[in-house]
Amino acid sequence: MNTRATANIGVVGLAVMGSNLARNLASREGNTVAVYNRTRERTDELVSRHPEAGLVAAASIDDFVASLARPRTAIVMVRAGAGTDAVVDQLAERFEPGDIIVDGGNADFQDTIAREKRLAPTGVHFVGVGISGGEEGALNGPSIMPGGSAESYRTLGPVLASIAAVAEGEPCVTHVGTDGAGHFVKMIHNGIEYADMQLIGEAYDLLRTVGGLRPHAIADVFAEWNKGPLESYLIEITAEILRQADPATGQPFVDVVLDQAGSKGTGVWTVQNALDLGVPVGGIAEAVFARSVSGRSAQRAAVRRVITSRPEVRKADDTFVQDVAAALYASKVVAYAQGFDAIVAGAEKYGWDLRKDRIARIWRGGCIIRARFLNRIAEAYTENPHITTLLEAPYFAWAVAEGEAAWRRVVATAALSGVPAPGFGAALSYYDSLAAERLPAALIQGQRDFFGAHTYRRVDRQGVFHTEWSGSRTEITMGTAAH
Ligand code: 6PG
Repeated sequence: MNTRATANIGVVGLAVMGSNLARNLASREGNTVAVYNRTRERTDELVSRHPEAGLVAAASIDDFVASLARPRTAIVMVRAGAGTDAVVDQLAERFEPGDIIVDGGNADFQDTIAREKRLAPTGVHFVGVGISGGEEGALNGPSIMPGGSAESYRTLGPVLASIAAVAEGEPCVTHVGTDGAGHFVKMIHNGIEYADMQLIGEAYDLLRTVGGLRPHAIADVFAEWNKGPLESYLIEITAEILRQADPATGQPFVDVVLDQAGSKGTGVWTVQNALDLGVPVGGIAEAVFARSVSGRSAQRAAVRRVITSRPEVRKADDTFVQDVAAALYASKVVAYAQGFDAIVAGAEKYGWDLRKDRIARIWRGGCIIRARFLNRIAEAYTENPHITTLLEAPYFAWAVAEGEAAWRRVVATAALSGVPAPGFGAALSYYDSLAAERLPAALIQGQRDFFGAHTYRRVDRQGVFHTEWSGSRTEITMGTAAH
């Protein structure tokens, strides 16, 4: 049992992410790391497996708190939700003003806002920190998105910077905003992650079904793409996954895995919040829905049973692989554009000063969506933080225009061949909606006015109008505000 306050930081919750983060912290000069887990065996196992880390094992929560030097800093790495509340309460009862409780899990940012508020009167700082990069990132350098007060960041910032990934010489961490801002930005990161994964999945499916390529050949295509503008962690690991053969059967690994994708919920949160904020994130939403569809096995089987024929798969031409690359790139731009729109709307609603350029910078390394492309996004927002959408930034406007014809060919080929491409399709529809001179929303306003007297505005005159649809069909001026 240890009761001396020798550790400058502690980690509670020693599942893979917590253990790796503790080891990462311990590997940095000047850190002594206390560790605690509800089940003692896990703590002992971690400490004995990694003697080089010099971890300070705590047998109880009291022991853990006693092992921390003041101001105490504890990083909580437990399952989001009730688990977090239980640990936070235990720590808060024992911590003193000025001490810091960090929640490094994938918490709902609204919970983070509430937890910070709840602890504020006690003088204990509660800081929600988004951490991305999976197990490997936690160990070797994640991308870190801290919220919480500026005061707590003064203590926390240098420690987080010491363990973060480094991109182009800069640590992938910045104080993104107050209270729940860190977890909000992490949530959006995950929404983009879902979209990126879905788009890559569609590209694979098209290359296989229409392109007629085998998984190992598609792995080569992805590896090639990873040398150009599409370079990203997800493209890189996709090539590796596609190259993998199942040891038991010798089949491609991808063919022996059940085609039903699960989720832990952050993608759903992104879409739910975007709906509340009124931000169209169709590309991200389709990625979430695509996972839901994959799990609808009874419906999938039922539809396959009643279907008598499937469309004939189109023959791929010589440019098909390049076309798919262009469609993937353009659709990715849309996913990021939608994600950053949600960031802007969240900042406005919750009063955060979210810097889009800084967020793009800390996503360049360590996190799951890290990509060469993020340099371009960072540049676009540095050049002009006031662009209304990423799609108007000169570089992206040009890049999307360059790939536009190919993007359309791919979506059309997918539709004609019966290959589902909801991500590519939704992204293209979004682009076309923004680009259209006129949208059918005018007709929808007419319908709303017809059945509900919801009024409409005109293109040629100020004011709010209603047509007496059931009577004379004359138009009346209703005032100034539509409803
Ligand atoms: C990350 C990831 C991670 C997330 C997993 C699982 O940034 O390191 O986003 O936080 O938990 O990717 O997400 P799903 O189970 O929802 O796919």
